[in-house]
Amino acid sequence: MLLLRYLAVLTVVTTTAHCRNAESGPSARGNGGGWAPARVAEVYFTTEVAGYIEPCGCTTKPLGGLPRLATVIRRGIEARTLVDAGHLLFPPKGVDDVTREQHLLKAGLLARAYRRLGVTAMNVAAADLTEGASLLKRLQHQGATPFVSANVRPVGGHGPEVARSFIRNVGAIKIGITGVTTPESVSGVEGMTAIEYAPAVTVETRALRDSGADVIVVLAHMSELAARELAEIVPDIDIVLRAPGTSVESAPKPPIQVGRTVIAEAGSQGQHVGRVTIALGSERPTGPLVLDDGDRTIRRKRALLKRKIRAFRTEVQAWQSDPAKAAAVRAKKSIIARLEARLAEPAPPTRPPDKPYLRVDQIPLDDEVPADPDLSAALKSYYSRLRAMNADKGDPTRCRPVEGQPTYVGTKACVECHAEAYAFWKKTKHALAWETLEAGSKQYDLTCVGCHVVGYQKPGGFCRIKDVSGFEDVGCENCHGPGSKHITDGDPSSIVLQATVGTCANECHVPEHSDAFDFPKYLRMVTGPGHALDKD
Ligand code: HEC
Ligand code: HEC
Ligand code: HEC
Repeated sequence: MLLLRYLAVLTVVTTTAHCRNAESGPSARGNGGGWAPARVAEVYFTTEVAGYIEPCGCTTKPLGGLPRLATVIRRGIEARTLVDAGHLLFPPKGVDDVTREQHLLKAGLLARAYRRLGVTAMNVAAADLTEGASLLKRLQHQGATPFVSANVRPVGGHGPEVARSFIRNVGAIKIGITGVTTPESVSGVEGMTAIEYAPAVTVETRALRDSGADVIVVLAHMSELAARELAEIVPDIDIVLRAPGTSVESAPKPPIQVGRTVIAEAGSQGQHVGRVTIALGSERPTGPLVLDDGDRTIRRKRALLKRKIRAFRTEVQAWQSDPAKAAAVRAKKSIIARLEARLAEPAPPTRPPDKPYLRVDQIPLDDEVPADPDLSAALKSYYSRLRAMNADKGDPTRCRPVEGQPTYVGTKACVECHAEAYAFWKKTKHALAWETLEAGSKQYDLTCVGCHVVGYQKPGGFCRIKDVSGFEDVGCENCHGPGSKHITDGDPSSIVLQATVGTCANECHVPEHSDAFDFPKYLRMVTGPGHALDKD
């Protein structure tokens, strides 16, 4: 059968000899009953990483990054594997002539990192084909890059190898894995074609079961609606790991269940990593696996309790000044005390189900997860290559001055006439924006510079990082506009007075980079003597 040619059967060999997270593993939670899992495996998964290797560090609580991902995975039990549900390699915006080389280097870094972390299946989504099928083939030349898709296929013989499905033996569990994306998303990519996905997944699922798969995992790059439909059409799927197709950073939604199928995601931008724990007996499961969401139910209940307490407190506060409500206040206060006591009780130990089950954890890669030194070193060497790669790159057409319009002159050009404004500005964080990049060796990263300088890629500004001199930091002209005319005539009408919420919020203080942005509050922090608000 043609299918079997694509059905590679591999055994996953892992190198970590000890198990450091046993306390969260199923073995630690005895269920007191008769059944205990004979086979346990962990499937780590990422969804919609979209070319992010590290958080930029702009926000209050940066999440994500390959070094933290590596730490979580390497702490896993020995019987583990890593898979990706698609849109791993490139940013959602795509690449242009200036940024292409950096994004290619980064895609290579991501592929290498996933290889080192033992990836055993990578779904192919449209964004992974940003640089065509030939890039995926090139990545495969560099080492094992196990692309899988039930419905995306190379044509013309020059594309990468894309398996239709795999069986991976992890912890003696045979995990059948296939991938899927919507055909429309891939149409027009040279060297690739895509067929209807539901029939393709049906065929693969059947073939995987025939080959003895204990569990069927589908890596899907599609909307929630499409994933639900897929689960209805192919009810034999145990798990759909879904990349949502929107790479705007978002916390992962909790898993849902459609029939026997659990649909789970791990958010975007590599900020979280998902983990599916599969616990089976020694026999191949005969029915659906139970979704063990014991802790989730408890967490939800506790959150509800907290919300209730908060609401009651607000009520009490509102009533307190009204003597007629004294009795009601007393009654509410005693209810609050009771609820608080309940919240203070230790959560009862959760029991794993007494039959084959799976469990989904969505682990935030926050600052409590230490960086893995191996991956940190890989990132460092990536950044060190950017200087030679990017210093000289730029699209000069974007910086060409517009006839009759002023050009950017840099912050220093304002000092002589506005010494006070300059002195105040020097004390604001805007004056440290470039230094911040330098401190992290990110000043040659094309995905960073724009918002940390004056006039980058703006008409009358500068276009190559090597020309940054004088334009470092977020300076006067980011808010007041280009000043070449004004510095010669000193005429207040030749410069823009106002920084609008539009310029700040649309260009720099976007949610992804400034989660706490509050225009009036922030404006007060950056305006002062010499450029004061409400001076009249
Ligand atoms: C040659 C001297 C000179 C230089 C250089 C200069 N300015 Fe001015 N600027 C003035 C004068 C004079 C005024 C009007 C008096 C005032 O408001 O202080 C003014 C006013 C302004 C105003 C207020 C405009 C208004 O509508 O009230 C802004 C904003 C401003 N300058 C920004 C800048 C910026 C940004 C730079 C650097 C790119 C700069 N200036 C460089 C002389 C200068
Ligand atoms: C879209 C604009 C934008 C881009 C692109 C951007 N930043 Fe930022 N960055 C900001 C803004 C705005 C802030 C200030 C956030 C705040 O305080 O709300 C900031 C703050 C920071 C800070 C924190 C500085 C401090 O004082 O705490 C670091 C570090 C940083 N950025 C690094 C980076 C790196 C590295 C990149 C590229 C990977 C990058 N930024 C890309 C807009 C951007
Ligand atoms: C973060 C944005 C921002 C930056 C950066 C900034 N300004 Fe302003 N500036 C403002 C705002 C907002 C006002 C007040 C406008 C109003 O009153 O409506 C202002 C007002 C001014 C005024 C007129 C008011 C006054 O007190 O005379 C001058 C002059 C001025 N700025 C100069 C500068 C110079 C010079 C720099 C750089 C050293 C600078 N500004 C940097 C936002 C900025």
